[in-house]
Amino acid sequence: MKPVTLRRDVDLAPLSTFRLPARARELVILEHPEQLESLPPTDLPLLVLGDGSNTVFMGDWPGRILLNRLGGMRVEPLDDNTSRVDAGAGENWHRLVRTCIDRGLHGLENLVMIPGSVGAAPMQNIGAYGVELSDVLESVRAWDWQTAEMLELSRDDCALGYRDSRFKTTDRGRFLITGISMRLDHEFRPRADYQSLARALTHRRLSKPTPRQLAATVMRLRRHRLPDPARLANAGSFFKNPVVETAVARDLLKEFPALPHWPGDNQRVKLAAGWMIERLGFRGYRIGDAGVYQHHALVLVNHGQATAADLKVLIDKVRQAIRREYGVTLEPEPLLIEPDF
Ligand code: EPU
Repeated sequence: MKPVTLRRDVDLAPLSTFRLPARARELVILEHPEQLESLPPTDLPLLVLGDGSNTVFMGDWPGRILLNRLGGMRVEPLDDNTSRVDAGAGENWHRLVRTCIDRGLHGLENLVMIPGSVGAAPMQNIGAYGVELSDVLESVRAWDWQTAEMLELSRDDCALGYRDSRFKTTDRGRFLITGISMRLDHEFRPRADYQSLARALTHRRLSKPTPRQLAATVMRLRRHRLPDPARLANAGSFFKNPVVETAVARDLLKEFPALPHWPGDNQRVKLAAGWMIERLGFRGYRIGDAGVYQHHALVLVNHGQATAADLKVLIDKVRQAIRREYGVTLEPEPLLIEPDF
């Protein structure tokens, strides 16, 4: 078996799509699950990184980064209607979605073009345009650092919620996700309820879209509203949409009837943070090179030379303004790695 690649004093900017300046003490590139049993020993803290689209380095990382490049994809028909798709955590999510569409496996069309790796998908239960990974996920394979063994966790064991899972919360740092299994349909049943998607389909006169047409419509929406990390550094939505009690939502909606909202978990209400931020005039606002994206206020961007200090000031300004105006606290969506973490 090939030994892992180990590098020291590594520049992290190219490994994170927000591209803040930062360095890691060590970087290990993991390409085969068997390598987990013979990693060079270390007492350094560990951090697993996939494509870096949901991790923002607010300073140097004093430990080891494990770059998850575990590849592979396998399709196994389960019955006439469904197939199981196994994919390595280091595969690119978008490429996997496209491969599934090409092979006539359905359920992922709305999740096309989400940046990041397959392993990051269950971490935060990725979702877009009315579909979440939890709709199709069967299980997650993971290496348990505590017991040094490989486990298979069922979907229910993953405690998936809105941009949430046990991998981010109760068991943060305990597992390294090595792969996922999904159950996909042979028959295509488009999910087109999400308002902006429904509107775009109507606009394109696609009342019965094919899988490719649905995916293409989602891609157009994303291109239109969200910055391409290859051109303008960003980490997608920077804040979660806040989920509040019904009574709180009722009061807010009395005052701001146009505030977009959806049913949230546990009979609570999810509010559109992008709308709230835009309404306070933040679109295009900048602190140095850290800014609020011009076309979508929930996305923060690095115009080139942003520093962690710029970004911190920007985050605080936005959060304070939202708290003052709406009495709601915004939580960051990506993982922010603080230097004294
Ligand atoms: N809106 C505004 N102004 C803005 C941005 C949004 O008024 O500047 C309004 C929109 O017009 C719409 C509502 O807010 O009525 C919701 O906006 P959008 O459909 O763009 O979705 P979002 O809630 O801002 C979430 C996800 C996105 C995902 C979209 C589409 C979170 C944190 N973000 O954003 O996911 O692509 O829905 O499903 O839940 C990501 O997680 O990185 C991400 C991009």
